[in-house]
Amino acid sequence: MSNGPDLVELLDLATDLVVEAGALLAGGVSSVRTDIATKSSATDMVTEMDRASERLLVEGIRSARPDDGVLAEEGTSAPNRSGVRWIIDPLDGTTNYLYGVPAYAVSVAVEVDGIVEVGVVLDAAHGELFSAVRGRGARLDGRLIHTSPTTDLGKALVGTGFGYEAVHRRAQVDVLSGVIGDVRDIRRAGAAAVDLCWVACGRLDAYYEEGIEPWDGAAGLLVAAEAGGRTWVGASPRIGRTITVAANPELFDPLLGLLVRAGAVSQRSG
Ligand code: IPD
Ligand code: CA
Repeated sequence: MSNGPDLVELLDLATDLVVEAGALLAGGVSSVRTDIATKSSATDMVTEMDRASERLLVEGIRSARPDDGVLAEEGTSAPNRSGVRWIIDPLDGTTNYLYGVPAYAVSVAVEVDGIVEVGVVLDAAHGELFSAVRGRGARLDGRLIHTSPTTDLGKALVGTGFGYEAVHRRAQVDVLSGVIGDVRDIRRAGAAAVDLCWVACGRLDAYYEEGIEPWDGAAGLLVAAEAGGRTWVGASPRIGRTITVAANPELFDPLLGLLVRAGAVSQRSG
């Protein structure tokens, strides 16, 4: 593309849609809670909210930018005729949402010619809006944010998560057992997009997870990188999927070394 799209316009559109979708989710959480006693119907309601959020986002994108491509968790996919593709997780932290745990998010990344240039993540329970435009820093509610100053891995608070398949979860716990003794502590917030944004604003020193999907990480990875962090998505031989790592620049190499020793990464890279 010779004349690229206006990134600020993409950021504004992404922000408006994410805020609308976040309001929809926050409005539905209490009805899901009321139905938790009959868990199967609560699960259906979460699926409904997930789909409603995706519909809202995709319709907003289609009406403003009909030629853009879309890749979204609930299955919407549209070909890209403009060089721009939207990568969408309409509800990250589904299990938290089901239980009313306040860590669930709407995550939208905008790729231009295959590179994520804009990322927006709304932690909908807290109304915290994280955003980044490549080369222009990362923000929380409009204020620039930075990764933590921690330099010692032994004093690092590290986020991680687990997939849905039992075989992967067991392998992930094996890796965790090789990590937990060498860091201050572990957090499992339950929403990868939120984890990455917490690395960006220094609430976590680092994050790693095997097996997340592109829509879980696309926006948060840009937010973490623009906040000064180092990020990497590589191969995870243990579960045959990807591993995503984000940390402040001082901790990135030590954490990657630890993940190599724990068997999650086959060789140092990044
Ligand atoms: C999940 C969350 C969770 C992570 C899982 C993801 P979902 O996404 O991000 O924190 O550990 O790997 O699948 O299913 O809640 O959208
Ligand atoms: Ca997700």
